[in-house]
Amino acid sequence: MRVQVAIIGAGPAGLLLGQLLHRAGIDGVILESRSQEYVLARIRAGVLESGTVALLERAGVASRLRAEGLIHAGFDLAFGGRRLRIDLEGLAGKSVTVYGQTEVTKDLMEARAAAGAPAFYEARDVAVHAFDSEKPWVSFNSSQKIACDFIAGCDGFHGVCRASVPAEKLKLFEKNYSFGWLGILSDTPPVSEELIYVSHERGFALCSQRSRTRSRYYLQCPLSEQVDEWPDERFWAELRRRLPGDAAAQLVTGPSIEKSIAPLRSFVAEPLRFGRLFLAGDAGHIVPPTGAKGLNLAASDVHYLAEALKNYYQTGSMEELETYSSRSLARVWKAERFSWWMTKLLHKFPEEGGFGRRMQLAELEYIAGSRAAQAALAENYVGLPY
Ligand code: FAD
Ligand code: DHB
Repeated sequence: MRVQVAIIGAGPAGLLLGQLLHRAGIDGVILESRSQEYVLARIRAGVLESGTVALLERAGVASRLRAEGLIHAGFDLAFGGRRLRIDLEGLAGKSVTVYGQTEVTKDLMEARAAAGAPAFYEARDVAVHAFDSEKPWVSFNSSQKIACDFIAGCDGFHGVCRASVPAEKLKLFEKNYSFGWLGILSDTPPVSEELIYVSHERGFALCSQRSRTRSRYYLQCPLSEQVDEWPDERFWAELRRRLPGDAAAQLVTGPSIEKSIAPLRSFVAEPLRFGRLFLAGDAGHIVPPTGAKGLNLAASDVHYLAEALKNYYQTGSMEELETYSSRSLARVWKAERFSWWMTKLLHKFPEEGGFGRRMQLAELEYIAGSRAAQAALAENYVGLPY
């Protein structure tokens, strides 16, 4: 088999790249190690920047998103028992859309199937070869080989693409946090129309949602704790303690339909291009989830990469492909900074003691009293321009 672009990974990055290339008449194949059902069952991000929505529109996969996505013009920061609304629309002129990553993935999978474009799920032993030459190729399922012009490494943090790059060619920047997010999904109405990010003495909490009847809640928890130590009753009781009184009074509880703990990590690999291998999305960088940037960064990488590949096939010039890494990383580092800052502002860091907590509260009070500070927060939250 021979294709123009071999895409490793069928997460949002790989599927969106596949769709954008298909629409540009560039042929590709997607190799995914998991089953389609497994990929669809992973509950992850839920907030799309307006730039991501626009990109999904351009990819021709936004009809359900337009019908079912919830447009949020603001969100609340809760601290010291009060709620401060950040008016995204008024401060930054843009809103965000609440639409689950699982739904984005489903729409992209359906579009790929409808286009008859090839994708191999449950591909075993995917390996990338000769990407520092003009003739890269990939292998899988012990004997299958695909020759290609380029390889897109969209295989997430634990994928094979970044791991195949010689260590001396990679510079890694990493920060691990000592806590995770325990998340639950439940078929209960959200506690509030908009999201609430809570900074509390007992730890961070987030009230999010997937629809008017489905809620997604998160609690900061120590990494040492396991999901089975958190029966639903314990989760709801802890969430209620961290919420401001008016929100706690509105909370509707019910059985969880998913529960998991995600570690928090900041990570960037530099560069994102090695000859004819390009890293996009979590394969190249991870942000802690606090700013809701992970999926949106995967989308912006894919935008830059798809445009550069289209330019190559139209003009034969490698120039845009050669600058993919620096252009993408410029946006990535700004989102890394914002996600790190929001994580630091809102979570409990016991090692920082009483002084650290006072600094957080002073900064939150400053934000509450300064339109300029709110505007900076809003501008980053809705997404910096591509
Ligand atoms: P992924 O979604 O990880 O997709 C990579 C794909 O590659 C996977 O399907 C994987 O199975 C496949 N793959 C891996 N190795 C191979 C291989 N060797 N061969 C073939 N295929 C392979 N972001 C937020 O904004 N908010 C959140 O609440 C949030 N929660 C998260 C919770 C968890 C547990 C995780 C892991 C991430 C979360 N994120 C969140 C981040 C967000 O989901 C990611 O940034 C987003 O999924 C990135 O998309 P991607 O396509 O780059 O990577
Ligand atoms: C969700 C996740 C986030 O990381 C975030 O900042 C907001 C919402 C969510 O899963 O709904």
